[in-house]
Amino acid sequence: MSDDDTEFTGSNDVEGDDTHGFSTDFGDTELGDDEPKQGLFDDLLSGEPIFENKEVLRPSYTPHELPHRSDQINKMATILVAALRGETPSNILIYGKTGTGKTASAKFVSKELESTSQKYSVPCDVEYINCEVTDTQYRVLAQLANKFIEKNKERIDERIDSLEDLLEAVEEYEDGAAPSADGSEHFDYPDEFADASESDVSTGDDNRDTSSEFPVETEGYSDGDTAGESGATADGDAEPSHPLASTPFDSVTEIEDRIDSLEEDKDSFEDVPMTGWPTDRVYNVFFDAVDYDERVVVIMLDEIDKLVEKSGDDTLYNLSRMNSELENSRVSIIGISNDLKFTDFLDPRVKSSLGEEEIVFPPYDANQLRDILEHRSDVAFKDGALSEDVIPLCAAFAAQEHGDARRALDLLRTAGELAERSQAETIVEEHVRQAQDKIELDRVVEVVRTLPTQSKLVLFAIILLEKNGVHSINTGEVFNIYKRLCEEIDADVLTQRRVTDLISELDMLGIVNAVVVSKGRYGRTKEISLSVPLEETEAVLLSDSRLSDIDDIQPFVQARFEN
Ligand SMILES: Nc1ncnc2c1ncn2[C@@H]1O[C@H](COP(=O)(O)OP(=O)(O)OP(=O)(O)O)[C@@H](O)[C@H]1O
Ligand SMILES: [Mg+2]
Repeated sequence: MSDDDTEFTGSNDVEGDDTHGFSTDFGDTELGDDEPKQGLFDDLLSGEPIFENKEVLRPSYTPHELPHRSDQINKMATILVAALRGETPSNILIYGKTGTGKTASAKFVSKELESTSQKYSVPCDVEYINCEVTDTQYRVLAQLANKFIEKNKERIDERIDSLEDLLEAVEEYEDGAAPSADGSEHFDYPDEFADASESDVSTGDDNRDTSSEFPVETEGYSDGDTAGESGATADGDAEPSHPLASTPFDSVTEIEDRIDSLEEDKDSFEDVPMTGWPTDRVYNVFFDAVDYDERVVVIMLDEIDKLVEKSGDDTLYNLSRMNSELENSRVSIIGISNDLKFTDFLDPRVKSSLGEEEIVFPPYDANQLRDILEHRSDVAFKDGALSEDVIPLCAAFAAQEHGDARRALDLLRTAGELAERSQAETIVEEHVRQAQDKIELDRVVEVVRTLPTQSKLVLFAIILLEKNGVHSINTGEVFNIYKRLCEEIDADVLTQRRVTDLISELDMLGIVNAVVVSKGRYGRTKEISLSVPLEETEAVLLSDSRLSDIDDIQPFVQARFEN
């Protein structure tokens, strides 16, 4: 049941109540019934006044409604509706800062598109790829190839099933059995018949020119179908029509041949291994898999800048020129990025092809963030768990972070967790402030942990100086300590110029603050101070195995005064 509850409901204005299925409603279930003894977890479960359903505040949750994104969603839909008409939609480039709802909106639209295409039996497939994870041309193509191979196999199986049903109907008919009530169902296989008739005419290419109509609507099939049905119902006494009458098949052998050839097709698909093939072989397999069926394919490349950064624009070049070579299908690309600069690195042809349509996701302001949080919090929290000022404060903090909805939701969830942990009944402003500090610290820890060793050494030098009470640290001082640290762990010593650059990078990351001050006739110098909590940062640095070798740090600082 809860599976269904999490389903996408296909409507923009569905209220969130059906998402309650997520909640782990242990409240008064089995636990108390036959086992009155209080177990380890009972207390913890019963004291849960804060969250009703925390999942809806997690980044992995795709909301049913996206307030303040209807313009962008409608624009996407207006472009993509072409796919439902069997036409190729323009490529779309979506961009906007982090946390502005790009991924959520694109996923929302793609679910709608797929469900509508199923409703009207229009062949349209949407494939989503996160290029931060899948970041080379090989991997993108391999993933797409394998997905389409899987889809093709599923469709082939369905076709074989329907052909086998047809064979059964013919057998029954020829055995003289009256057409059973479900016999008429056997006339109902648009895909297979369309496909069979299509392969009959595959020498002519006229149906390519009218690509706006899919073969499911071809006259051959629908006429046959209607004729079959009216024949059966109009005169009940008349000879029941032959099961093959409304199909492109003339004999059982033809059906059997068709099944054989479908089986062969199925066997011919070879999954692409995740490494090892030449890329053009992967491309060819992908190409053939996509072109196996007549359909429109929408390929969504999220974090597309990461792909271009890592492996250039070959993938995009290849994908965007596919349509001129595909015979049956059409491909359209949606690229999503929070960094527009990546387009500077694109081949001009790729750039103009990808950016046929552009949709901008502006940052949310505090009021919009408030709406977003309010929608989610209805479902996320128990009644009365939120004090009045909590949402406005989360929204205000996140608005300062360039209008990032992810940050706003993180704040609200973390504030709830902190309240829960302190066994408070309600979340109050103070929890939000603590949450803000915690998230900021988590960010710092992550940034520091992933710094290159050289930057870590520079940062460590600054920490050592601060720890020893040095204020307004200058670059020369940092360099001296840095040099000693390098010697201690046998690292290369960079030039002072490079170290100055690394300090600027740390400044940009918000880890240190470096201001240029004028020293009158002595020129200008940088004054550096740490802008993150010292102890936590030091702990992260020392958790790096190379730096943890530095055992006695005191002499270095003294060395500074000697210099
Ligand atoms: N209008 C909105 N209504 C409800 N939730 C939203 C809205 N916009 C964003 N969110 C939520 O905020 C979080 C971040 O959104 P999303 O992942 O779509 O951002 P993004 O623009 O793709 O960011 P990034 O560039 O970092 O990938 C998600 O949890 C998403 O569900
Ligand atoms: Mg995203």
